[in-house]
Amino acid sequence: MNTPQLRSAAWFDGDDEVAVLHRVAAGITAEDRGRPVIGIADTSSQLNPCQAGFAAVLEPLERGIRDGGGVPLRFPVMSLGEDLMKPSAMLYRNLVAMELEEQVRAHPLDGVVFLANCDKTVPSALMAAASTQLPSLLLLGGARSAPLFAGRRLGSGTDLWRALENRRAGTLDDAGWQQLEETLACAGGGSCNTMGTASTMALVSEALGMALPGSTGCAVGSAELADLAYRTGRIVAASAAAGAPGADQVMTEAAVANALRLVAAVGGSTNAVIHLAAIAGRLGHHLNLAQIDRLWAEVPLLADVEPCGSQLIHDFHDAGGLASVAAALLPHHLLDPGVVLADGRSLADLAATAPSDQTVIRSYGDPVLPAPALVVVSGSLAPDGAVLKTAASSPELWQHTGPAVVFDDYADMRARLDDPERVVSPDAVLVVRNCGPVGVPGMPEWGMAPIPAALAAAGVRDMVRVSDGRMSGTSFGTVVLHVAPEAAVGGPLALVTDGDLIELDVAGRRLELLVDAAELERRRAAWQPAPDEHLRGWPRLYRDHVSQAPSGCDLDFLASPTAASRRFVPPVVGRS
Ligand code: FES
Repeated sequence: MNTPQLRSAAWFDGDDEVAVLHRVAAGITAEDRGRPVIGIADTSSQLNPCQAGFAAVLEPLERGIRDGGGVPLRFPVMSLGEDLMKPSAMLYRNLVAMELEEQVRAHPLDGVVFLANCDKTVPSALMAAASTQLPSLLLLGGARSAPLFAGRRLGSGTDLWRALENRRAGTLDDAGWQQLEETLACAGGGSCNTMGTASTMALVSEALGMALPGSTGCAVGSAELADLAYRTGRIVAASAAAGAPGADQVMTEAAVANALRLVAAVGGSTNAVIHLAAIAGRLGHHLNLAQIDRLWAEVPLLADVEPCGSQLIHDFHDAGGLASVAAALLPHHLLDPGVVLADGRSLADLAATAPSDQTVIRSYGDPVLPAPALVVVSGSLAPDGAVLKTAASSPELWQHTGPAVVFDDYADMRARLDDPERVVSPDAVLVVRNCGPVGVPGMPEWGMAPIPAALAAAGVRDMVRVSDGRMSGTSFGTVVLHVAPEAAVGGPLALVTDGDLIELDVAGRRLELLVDAAELERRRAAWQPAPDEHLRGWPRLYRDHVSQAPSGCDLDFLASPTAASRRFVPPVVGRS
């Protein structure tokens, strides 16, 4: 068998002064020469507690790379933490994907392990992997623990939002609220322990063949996570040494379709739809929302995990994770059994290892909720579509018509939601607009307006809400998200005024603004985009080039499959 030409050879082979300089700079010894160099893209940061688990897995990861025949070299990458980064880590997802691509392009790397754990680090790594086209895998950093509060385990995000509802309804006092904060602080680092965006994207990574099966819900700091790290390093090094296909070849169209159906089956985050559209765009498998709705049509909710169920992500992991969900769906021809996973097994082979207990991950015939768990709606209020997680919503609101209560942006919502002068009826439809990719910019998780305090105190627990923003994967409610086109670019959401009737029809997949066409034309003629505030740097570049949600909110100059091959090396690898 021919030894594949390593990309790093362009830097390290030879005996001139340039090759010497390169080998010395990278610490390449005589023994290392001819081995693939495996980059470890390290997103650890004290500004991002979700990535805290990586310190403990670096040693086994590097050992795995060495044992696989490679040379590990670690480099830092910007970290995207959901909680502290404003206006939203989503604003920076594409920046990190681009940073990763450029780091890989500029350096002598033959393969990459991406350390990714929080909501946006995972999709940014998958996008970069698609574009850099090298053998690569993600190493996920583990899920955080679940401390007890009032006798039950606290689910990240979901139980904070529930407590907020109770506080607004007057059933949780200040002492209880403070006790909740102290308990949350005991959870430590790691990804959210619910089926939020991070867990959903972890499962997506497994389904795409980009993370080892069993990664989702693996406990932070566990011996199992250390073993996953070792095996990840070993596989990537061995793949690079063997000239195995790059990540762009691993993430097939069938794998993307599997991932979308799995998202529905686990009641996964709506954010995954945007991320998968972006990943698919970079692979040349263009998705549209109608196609996605068809994929979801027969997929029920199988995972009894918060926010759609009662258990936590550790329980999902212990119940077999991907193996068990696949075992439930494969007999119904809802997944492609031949998709190859990161450890080389097919999905069907993995499903054959699923445990028999079906308490947390149910059978297809005994689901947590019937299909569909997610839907796409469209109509006069969302001509290019919007997404609703039916599994986290109220069936009695699936056919609903109510008067709009409009908030022009997030600040307006925060300021006026509880305005005693503004009477909001329980059948109202709360509209929060100008939260889209262009509007903020960055499309924060501002779509889920809380129930107005007066209604919450009266026992109202859900209302129809409509937004061009996103919501946390740990959230719940009848919230229609990602309305496209967004208000900031003149989508119909911009034309809604208080009192307009809005109709949501889940069965018909419709979202309608019941205002006659002539009136809408009059409003459109009067509509003005927001003044172009002075933006500079990345937000400027982002706003000028970002696509709408159905296309994944990628930047137009990054969104297509790259022409740069995995063997890309600069035309001249000389002195810098
Ligand atoms: Fe980082 Fe949930 S906030 S994983």
